[in-house]
Amino acid sequence: MSNDIAKAVEILKQGGLVAFPTETVYGLGADARNAQAVQKIFAAKGRPSTNPLIVHISDIPTAQWFAKWPVEAQRLAQKFWPGPLTLILPKSHRIVADVTAGKQTVGLRAPDHPLALELLHRFNGPVAAPSANRSTRVSPTTAQHVRDELGDAVDLILDGGPCSVGIESTVLDLTAEFPTILRPGAISAREIESLVGIVRIRTDTIDPATPASSPGQHAVHYSPRAATYRFDAADLARVQNLSQQHKDSVILAISPQPGGLQMPNNSADYARILYATLRNLDSRNIPTIFIQMPPDTPEWLAIRDRLLRATRPLPADLV
Ligand code: TXA
Ligand code: MG
Repeated sequence: MSNDIAKAVEILKQGGLVAFPTETVYGLGADARNAQAVQKIFAAKGRPSTNPLIVHISDIPTAQWFAKWPVEAQRLAQKFWPGPLTLILPKSHRIVADVTAGKQTVGLRAPDHPLALELLHRFNGPVAAPSANRSTRVSPTTAQHVRDELGDAVDLILDGGPCSVGIESTVLDLTAEFPTILRPGAISAREIESLVGIVRIRTDTIDPATPASSPGQHAVHYSPRAATYRFDAADLARVQNLSQQHKDSVILAISPQPGGLQMPNNSADYARILYATLRNLDSRNIPTIFIQMPPDTPEWLAIRDRLLRATRPLPADLV
């Protein structure tokens, strides 16, 4: 693990892989103009080649080089970049097809982290980077998480400390009839609407039982190794009972629980520690986790989305 940006730039130029911090989660980066380098990302993650990658750039002028740039993109990027908002736009030929899984659109984002921005400035090119975890696992929010996940599959890990946001960026499709949130994140639908009018939220981000319309949105994504169940406040008494039957199980709840692990009751603090908490439970070999769902309100949309993907419903017959 390192803070040697010059070395990281050299590795990117030579077609290698560099993991780097962003404000959301750590990314696994490669030169987005180099098909062979991009292929290494898919191999290291065990990611299906049908799931497109986000391209990281340092600023708006660079973004305009890689995508068609409508007025909505300009407004949103001016307000929220650098920051946790990914814009899906028609791609230019400068991005290799491997990055976008053959799609004619590309996801662009300027990350709000000093190390990431310095890396992008000095590399002076687009960096394709998914979250630096193995496919379907929880995203890493520290350099050590990346090391634990990917080991030697990555050439260099830049260490920028723990991520301040803690969950992945809001993904907004600007190529649909209305701007459409494909993945909720720290930038909310309301904040986006104030700049560009009506925003749709794709329903499978709310109800993971709906068949996935794009890869990377499968149910039970972002999951820990433990058997992980979600429950609503109404089931609390039953879960406390179950937890006593299931040796070494842990309850995560936003209200104080006897014997439970209390999570923050505001969504920003919750997001910051969610993945590290799940990883910590996995590293302690906790076999069973029960997670109370936070309220079904806009503030908690992104957290609920990640929890829906990390958990299964509490089976009626679980004893
Ligand atoms: O916060 C983040 O977005 C982090 C950091 C590293 O920037 N990156 C991240 O990347 O979460 P990844 O690959 O784990 O998730 C990218 C998501 C996937 O759900 C992918 O399907 C979607 O964005 N995506 C990327 N390009 C797309 C496109 N052209 N059309 C539709 N969805 C796209
Ligand atoms: Mg990911």
